[in-house]
Amino acid sequence: MTFDMPGKSANVLTDEVWVDLSRALDRLESKPPAGVILVSAKPTIYVAGADLVKISNTLDWSDDEIIRFCEEGRAIMSRFSRLLSVSVAAVHGVCVGGGMELTLWCDHRIASDDRKTLFGLPEVKLGLVPGWAGTVRLPRLIGLQEAIDLVTTGNLIDAKRAKELGIVTCVGPQSEMIDRAVQIINDELASRAFLKKRQAMLGAVTDMPHDLDALRQRFQQQIDSNREIDSSAPSIVLQHMIDTAGVDQQAACHNESLAMAKVYGSIENQGLLHYFFLDERSKKVRSDYGEVQPPRIERIGIIGAGLMGCQIAKLALTAGYQVTLFDADQNKLHREFAALATGKNGQNIRVADSFKTFADADLVIEAIVEKLTIKRQLFEQLCQVVGPEIFLATNTSTIPVSDIATAVPNPARLVGLHFCCPVEPLRLVEVIRGQQSSQTIVNVAIDVVRAMRKTPIVVGDHPGFVVNRLLCPVFNQALEMLTHGIPLSQMDASFREFGFAAGPLEMIDFIGVDTIMYAGETFLRTLPELVSLNPILPALVKRGRLGRKSNLGFYRYESFDSVARIDRELDPILDRYQKEPLSLDNDQILDRLLEPMIAAGRAVLADGVVDDSRDVDLCSVLGTTFPAVRGGLLHWADELRRAGS
Ligand code: NAI
Repeated sequence: MTFDMPGKSANVLTDEVWVDLSRALDRLESKPPAGVILVSAKPTIYVAGADLVKISNTLDWSDDEIIRFCEEGRAIMSRFSRLLSVSVAAVHGVCVGGGMELTLWCDHRIASDDRKTLFGLPEVKLGLVPGWAGTVRLPRLIGLQEAIDLVTTGNLIDAKRAKELGIVTCVGPQSEMIDRAVQIINDELASRAFLKKRQAMLGAVTDMPHDLDALRQRFQQQIDSNREIDSSAPSIVLQHMIDTAGVDQQAACHNESLAMAKVYGSIENQGLLHYFFLDERSKKVRSDYGEVQPPRIERIGIIGAGLMGCQIAKLALTAGYQVTLFDADQNKLHREFAALATGKNGQNIRVADSFKTFADADLVIEAIVEKLTIKRQLFEQLCQVVGPEIFLATNTSTIPVSDIATAVPNPARLVGLHFCCPVEPLRLVEVIRGQQSSQTIVNVAIDVVRAMRKTPIVVGDHPGFVVNRLLCPVFNQALEMLTHGIPLSQMDASFREFGFAAGPLEMIDFIGVDTIMYAGETFLRTLPELVSLNPILPALVKRGRLGRKSNLGFYRYESFDSVARIDRELDPILDRYQKEPLSLDNDQILDRLLEPMIAAGRAVLADGVVDDSRDVDLCSVLGTTFPAVRGGLLHWADELRRAGS
C-alpha cells in the first residue's frame, strides 16, 4: 500500500487522504492478503502527520467536534490493528505526528537506515497533544518512561534510536525493506505471535513504575526547565499519560481526546501554529539567479574581530568557507585568531596583514564599529585594494546600507548582512537590499546565510531595518524607566516572564552598550521620534562598562557566557541621572516596554521595510526572541486587540 499525495512533496492526513485510506482498508478487509506493507512514494517524508491547514481553520471547534476529530481518525487507523493480515509500516523518511501514530496501529514498523528517516510525536511543539492514540499505544509498546519522554519533549529520533527503544523491529537499507517486511509477515503467520501482541496493546501499560507520582514530578521538572517549549501542552499530556497508564486502551484513548480538547484552539496553539506557518514560509526565501551562473563563494574575508566578526567567522568556518580575518587592533586580532584556529575547521582561517590579503576573497564582510564615517573610510580604503568584482557586505545594525554605499565604487555589489547577537541561538539574518544593491549580491547573501544554517529575510534599507527598529524603542523605554528608579532586575524579569530569552538591559549587555549607544545616534539622526537622548549609555561607555564583552555593563559577569550578577557599583552612576521616582508593577512595566515595540512593528510595515506583517512576526521571534508561543509581535498585538474589542 503506497502513500502518494499527488503533486505534494509530503504526505499529509487531509480529508481526502482519510477517505482514500478508508476505502483502501475496505478492500483489505473484504479480501485480506497475508500481509500489508505500508510504504511512501515520497523521497524524504513518509507521512508528515495531521493537516495543519485544516487545524488552523478549525481552531474554534467545540469540545465535541475536537473529540469527534480524534475518534474518527482513530477509528480509521485502528482498522490496521484488526486486519486479518499482518501489517508492517516500512518507513523511509520523516514519520511524525499523525504519521507515526498511523504506524503505531500496525503490527510492525521497520525503518531505512537513511539519515532522513526520523520518528517522533512533536505535537506539543504546536501546543497540541497527539490525538490518534500516540499517547496510548507508544507507552504500551516501549514503556511509560520512554514514551513520556518522547511525547513531552516532542523530540525526533533516528532509526537507530527507534530500534533501541523498540519502536521499530529492524533497520536496514531502503532497498531491502520490502524483503524484510515479507520475511516478518511470513514469520508472524507461522508463529501467530502478532495476535498476542495485539491483545497486549488493548490492556494497560505493563511494567508500570510503582511510584507514578515521583515519575510525574520528575518529568514535570524536565518540562519546567525546557525553554524550547513554552506551552501547557507538555504538562497536560504528562498528566494524561500518568492517569491512563493503568487503564485499558479504549479508556486511555477517550482521555486522550479530552486532553486534546483542552489544548486545541488555545491561545498557545494558535500562536504556535501561526509561528509554524511563518517558519515554513521563511524556508521559501531562496536565491534566484535565473539564467545566470551563480558565482562561487569559497573565501570570505571578515573585517573586525570583535564580538560580531568572531561569531560570523566561526559560522563561516563551520559552513566550510576559507576565512581571512582582519582587525585594526593587532593584539585582539591574533588573540581571536588563535581561539578560532583551534575550533571547527580551524585550519581554514588566516589573518590578514593588510587589506591586500583580501584580494583573493569572494566576499568581504565588514563588522567594525557602528559609526558611519569610520565604515565609509574603511570601504574607501578597501576598494582601493580589492578588485571591483569582489562582493561586499556590511553587518551594520542600524545604518542604512545606501549611506555606506557612497564610499563604494560599484555599489551594486554591496549588501547588508545583519546577523543578530548572540549569533548561535538567534537564527535570523536580515539581508538588506540597499538602493543600489544588485539582485546578484542579494542572491549571494541569501546563499551564504543558508550555507551558515541561518534564516535569511530580505528587508528594505531603513535605519535599524526590522530587528533594531523593534528593539531600540524598547531599550529606550527601559533606560527611561531606569532614570525613574525602576530596578533593572524588575524590568528584565518581567520581560523574561513574558517569554523573551532576556530582558532589555540584559540584551544591551549582550549586544554591547557602546553598539547600542551608536545605534541610538543613528536613530537620532534619521528617525529622531523613535528614541530620546539618554545620558546613561554614554556614562557607562565612558567607564568602560561595555556589557558582556568587557565583563561589566548593566550587570557584572565572570566571563562572556557567565550569569549576570547585580553590581552595586552601578548605583552611583545611575543616581546622577535620577528624575522623580515612579513605582510600577510588572504589568505596567511590560506595557511600557511593549507598546513602543508594537508601534515600531506597525511603522516597519508602513515604511515598507517589509510588506507583510508575517515578516515582522518572524523577525520578532527569530531576531528579538519574542515568544513563538504568542505567534509573533503583530499577531499577538492583533489578537489582544480582537480580544479587547
Ligand atoms: P565590537 O566593538 O565588539 O568590535 C568591533 C571591532 O572592530 C573591534 O575589534 C575593533 O578593533 C574593530 N575595528 C574598529 N575600527 C576598525 C577599522 N577601521 N578597521 C578594522 N577594524 C576596526 O563591535 P561588534 O559588536 O562586533 O559590532 C560590529 C558591527 O556589527 C557594528 O556595525 C554593529 O552595529 C554590528 N552588529 C552588532 C551586533 C551586536 O549585537 N553587537 C549585532 C549585529 C550587528
